[in-house]
Amino acid sequence: MSIVINESESIISIHTKNTTYQMKAVHNGLLVHTYYGPHMNGDAGYALSYRDRGFSVNPYDSKFNRTVSSDTLPLEYPCEGSGDFRASAFSVSRANGASGCDLRYEGYEVVKGKYSLKGLPAVYADEEEAETLLVTLRDRDAGIKVVLQYGVLPEIDVITRAVQITNEGNVPVVLNQTASACLDFVSGEWELMHFYGRHANERAAARVEIAEREIVIGTRRGMSSHHENPFIVIAENGADENKGQCVGMCFVYSGGFSANISRDAFGTTRAVMGLQPELFNYPLNPAETFQAPEAAMVYSAEGFAKMSHCFHKMISEHICRGPWKNRRRPVLINNWEATGMTFDGEKILSIARKASELGVEMMVLDDGWFGARDTDNAGLGDWKVNTEKLGCTMGELADKIRAMGMKFGLWIEPEMVNEDSDLYREHPDWALTIPGKEPILGRNQLVLDFSRKEVVDNIFSQISAVLDDCRADYVKMDFNRPIADVYSRTAGTQSRGKILYDYMLGVYSFMERLLERYPDLLLEGCAGGGGRFDAGMLYYCPQIWCSDNTDAIDRIRIQYGTSFCYPCRTMGAHVSAVPNGDTRRRTPINTRAVVAMAGTFGYELDLNLITEEEMEEVPKQIETFKKYWNLLHNGLYYRLTDVIRNRKEAAWMMVAEDQSEALLNIVTLDATGNGPNRFVRCAGLDPEAFYKDEESGNVYAASALMTIGLPMPRIKLPGIPWNPTPGEYESFQIHLIRQ
Ligand code: GLA
Repeated sequence: MSIVINESESIISIHTKNTTYQMKAVHNGLLVHTYYGPHMNGDAGYALSYRDRGFSVNPYDSKFNRTVSSDTLPLEYPCEGSGDFRASAFSVSRANGASGCDLRYEGYEVVKGKYSLKGLPAVYADEEEAETLLVTLRDRDAGIKVVLQYGVLPEIDVITRAVQITNEGNVPVVLNQTASACLDFVSGEWELMHFYGRHANERAAARVEIAEREIVIGTRRGMSSHHENPFIVIAENGADENKGQCVGMCFVYSGGFSANISRDAFGTTRAVMGLQPELFNYPLNPAETFQAPEAAMVYSAEGFAKMSHCFHKMISEHICRGPWKNRRRPVLINNWEATGMTFDGEKILSIARKASELGVEMMVLDDGWFGARDTDNAGLGDWKVNTEKLGCTMGELADKIRAMGMKFGLWIEPEMVNEDSDLYREHPDWALTIPGKEPILGRNQLVLDFSRKEVVDNIFSQISAVLDDCRADYVKMDFNRPIADVYSRTAGTQSRGKILYDYMLGVYSFMERLLERYPDLLLEGCAGGGGRFDAGMLYYCPQIWCSDNTDAIDRIRIQYGTSFCYPCRTMGAHVSAVPNGDTRRRTPINTRAVVAMAGTFGYELDLNLITEEEMEEVPKQIETFKKYWNLLHNGLYYRLTDVIRNRKEAAWMMVAEDQSEALLNIVTLDATGNGPNRFVRCAGLDPEAFYKDEESGNVYAASALMTIGLPMPRIKLPGIPWNPTPGEYESFQIHLIRQ
């Protein structure tokens, strides 16, 4: 039993293997949050502080007890208008324009298994693996019922939250904010980790003090974005990879989001996460119900590594679906960085031919195969194969590639349209544009109104005709601009606050239909690289192109930040040409491969154009990937260096769950002559055991490897007797086997 109710004291406790989450109804049904921490049996309500605090107001039913205030209590779902002036999670406007309500606890229900959300991605589990708690709050005057949904996956220490709002009154209301989770910590000094960035530089791990202020992160772009990832960590001061308390919050949604993190005047730290409220005003008619997306939480008393492992398990086993979720993904080659849109069928076949000779398993044809798509100014929306450019149909091209022993994959960008397209000329009202206003362009394209079913239907039938013909094994689904003009040309008022949410439902329905029609399809998400790298997309795509930046050294930082929430097997990562197109940096081909192996692993260059020496390496790399695949994708992942602060070397390792073997990966970021001795400290090994380096035969005590560390490998160069320290950007993979 993971959900335990103390009826007489109105205490609800949610237990996972290692953690407990607790709430309690006090003072006529104020639902307060009392605890989130290590497993605990008891009532943490003793920590609630009741004092008459000046200018902290009181609910009407406590008028003779000024020590009760929503403004100072930790609240489970704080709402605007309840007298809590801190960041709220919920706000509703009534028909008369007044906003505010006062939600009170009414009851609960416990259900076997994990709830699911209609039309939205959510954590899933077998009935025996999970439980659901539904807590009902109500404001009778406003006619608003709020059901707080909690999912518990005890084995992996995950607790999910979502919220359902029903208008029980007889007049329409407007939802202004429906956050999915709020967490209050009444004690402790906490910091915020967030993962910010920009195109080609996503998810840089940042850590900031919270202090007495509000920090708001998120995105107004209608996409989870390159700029902030919908994942945050609230970390105790001093917490690191191996020690200290931390709580991760992961929003399972791909549109705009907001996280508000604050510390109030009396020392309570609050984190609210959910839909971006500035762009949200959702009309709710009588008897209608709105479903807010899900947020998943993990508490770790042992630092970030433990927290990440729980999220990795959650995403690998309880978010990603379909036949590819646990299968080794084919080593692919993508033509984008090799050709852009300038190619013909022969060029694609020549890239595929060389790749297949070297052991690559799938050819992916990227942008430029359809309509008038010779530049990125035209063609989106016209999903008709350009047979003139290819010299054949897509089915014929796919057959030629399959004859080489490879699978075949295709790029699409279904949500977009160019003004220069037949689709736009025929249906200009299908784009999200505002009447009387010039539309905002991004990569010279407009966003299609995926809140409208007929638009989704049209694009789906165009694209599925091509996929039917070529029987694609893989699709890369891209999204290459944010949403700026939020107005739907459908009949009636279409508030922007409704469209962005309905738009996401349309996108999710599109992907669901793809997976239904092509049950074996491997779908890879993409949004100008990692602009929609979120748990929502991962429900449909078990992998997402991590970044348009394929420079191995930049990628180390990007993949490092990504790894706090998302497992390696979800990160699309390829070996590309040097000098790198983004950074002009040259890195050895083996270093590029070591970094790409911390992801899905593939190639993105013309292998005909690399040196003979490099060509010899490619088959070896593919063999290495196959040899270590299980460890790379299923091992527990440890970040061994903080790559934001340590600019000397980057190291990470994957350890088998039974600790029988591990793969240590090291890349040097800097080189210096006659420098100090350097060591890489391992983690996650069986401390009592000895491990053998498979290549050198050296045997090490695991405790020593995790305390002193492994000396940085030396390089053997012919004619140089002193084994110099490695140069810049060299890499090592060390396979450790328990003795
Ligand atoms: C985006 C993707 C790239 C490539 C191009 C094609 O930028 O991230 O990988 O597919 O679009 O236009």
